[in-house]
This record gives sequence, C-alpha cells and structure tokens, in this order.
Amino acid sequence: LFGHPWIFIRGVPSLNFLPPEGPSEVAFAGRSNVGKSSLINALVGQKGLARTSNTPGRTQELNYFVPDGYSGEGSDLPPMAIVDMPGYGYAQAPKEQVDKWTRLVFDYLRGRATLKRVYVLIDSRHGIKKNDEEVLTLLDKAAVSYQLVLTKTDKIKAPAVPKLLADTADKIRKRPAAYPVVLSTSSEKGDGLDDLRQAIAETI
Ligand code: GTP
Ligand code: MG
Repeated sequence: LFGHPWIFIRGVPSLNFLPPEGPSEVAFAGRSNVGKSSLINALVGQKGLARTSNTPGRTQELNYFVPDGYSGEGSDLPPMAIVDMPGYGYAQAPKEQVDKWTRLVFDYLRGRATLKRVYVLIDSRHGIKKNDEEVLTLLDKAAVSYQLVLTKTDKIKAPAVPKLLADTADKIRKRPAAYPVVLSTSSEKGDGLDDLRQAIAETI
C-alpha cells in the first residue's frame, strides 16, 4: 500500500459530495494544527500530497487520497482511501466556519459505513483535550473503532515518550471503541511511521 504513489481524488465540502461507499476508509482526525496532513504526507512519502500549514484551519474539506494506478482486475475501485479531515477546536476562525467544519466532521464520523478506523491524533505536548474527549465519546456512541496517535514527538524529550504512551492508554482504557494500543509519531523525524503503516494495513 505504501510502497507506491498516492493521489488526491476529491475534496468534500459537505456530506452530499461524499464518494459512493465502497472501498474501506481510514480517517485522520484531531485538533487543528495537530499534524494530520503532515502525517499523511510522511506515511506515503510525498511531501506535497496533503496541504499543510503553520496556520491552524488549513484543511477545510474531507480530502480523499487513494493509491495511484489501482484499477485492478474486475474493478475500478481503489483498495482503500485515506481521509484527511478539517481540524476541530480552532477558536480563532469565524464561528460560522467552525460550526460548519465541526458538523461535517461529526456527521461523517457518525454515519460512514465504510469507515474502518479513525486515527485520532493528539499533540504529544498537549495531551487529550476537552474537545478530543467529545470526539472520542461520539465515536464510542457510534461504535466506530479508533486508535490514538501521538504526534510531534520530536518536540518532547525522547525518554518521556514511553510514559506518555502508557498514561494516554490508561486514560482511554474504559472507552469501548478505543483500540487499547496508543502509537507515537514524528512526521518530521520519521519516528513511528512504520508502526502506523502496519496498523493501517491490518485495519483494511
Ligand atoms: P489543520 O488542517 O489546520 O487542521 O492542521 P493539520 O492537523 O493538518 O496540521 P498540519 O499537518 O498542517 O501541520 C501543522 C503544523 O505542524 C505545520 O507547521 C507542520 O509543519 C507542523 N508539524 C506537523 N507534524 C510535525 C512533526 O511531527 N514535528 C514537528 N516539529 N512539526 C510538525
Ligand atoms: Mg490539515
């Protein structure tokens, strides 16, 4: 899956523009600026695939990425899609915008039958915040499987990572839809990418 190029196929501004349900999907969710788009680029090894920015609120649609050249025998459908999502919790944007993104993200997460797992990204410097908890609760209620992924571990001291992983896993221990193992990554340094690639491959 990750050995060859991926392409962008569609930006979805509202639910009626979603592609028909078919291939398995995994989605990357998380607070604004947590590093969702950067992590997708790092996973596929293509710097400019998903747009990234210093300014929160960069990704404004559900962006669909699929492996290139997938038209296999008997089917034009890609084997899977990765969905990059707008971030939540960006308080500086106009309320109308924030409400629109939040609704799009929440409605998609709740209602997509082909969504196999959500990777909920958590900034390793900040930990799980209140709006993360809201998203986790929504996923628990909708029985959508998810796994937590710590991002930007290059920004914290390496010896602190194992304890942070254990503490984070402990916080979600009682959540019914949570995968118990928490991953840690740095898109900048490449740490943890292979584990995440393997987790995704096993999911679909
Ligand atoms: P929105 O689309 O706005 O919700 O943001 P996002 O979650 O997609 O974040 P994005 O990938 O655009 O990255 C936000 C900022 O964090 C950018 O300046 C990235 O360069 C930086 N960043 C992302 N991943 C890492 C990382 O692993 N380490 C470091 N040091 N910086 C990172
Ligand atoms: Mg983004």
